[in-house]
Amino acid sequence: MRSVVAAAVGLVVTAAALAASAEPPAGAASCTGCHATSTRVETPVPRLPGRDQPAIVRALEEFRSGAKPATVMDRIAKGFTDAEIQAIAAWFAGQK
Ligand code: HEC
Repeated sequence: MRSVVAAAVGLVVTAAALAASAEPPAGAASCTGCHATSTRVETPVPRLPGRDQPAIVRALEEFRSGAKPATVMDRIAKGFTDAEIQAIAAWFAGQK
C-alpha cells in the first residue's frame, strides 16, 4: 500500500515537471514581476530563465530556512511547498 502511494506521488510530481515546460506552474507568474524575463530590461534582480533547476531549488530552500540572507526572498520562499518549488524551478530552467 505504501509503495502504491509513493508511486502515485511520483507520477504527480513527474506530471507537474512535464507540464511545467509549457504552462507556468502555480506561483511562477508572481516571480516575474521582480525577476525580469526579458534581457532588454535593466535590473539588479538576478534573472531566472535558463538557470539550473537544482540551483534555483537550493536557493529557494536556503531562503526559506534563513540560511541564505535576503531582503524579500526569505518571505516569498516561505509561501511555497517543496513540490511548488520543484515545479517553478523546472519551469524557469526550461525557459530561454
Ligand atoms: C518582490 C520582488 C521579488 C519577487 C516577487 C521574487 N523575487 Fe526572487 N529575488 C528578489 C531579490 C531582491 C533577490 C535578491 C535576494 C534578496 O534580496 O532577497 C532575489 C533572489 C532570488 C534568487 C537567488 C538568485 C541568486 O543568484 O542568488 C532566486 C533563485 C529567486 N529569487 C527566485 C525567485 C522565485 C522562484 C520567485 C517566485 C516564486 C521569486 N524569486 C520572486 C526579488 C523577488
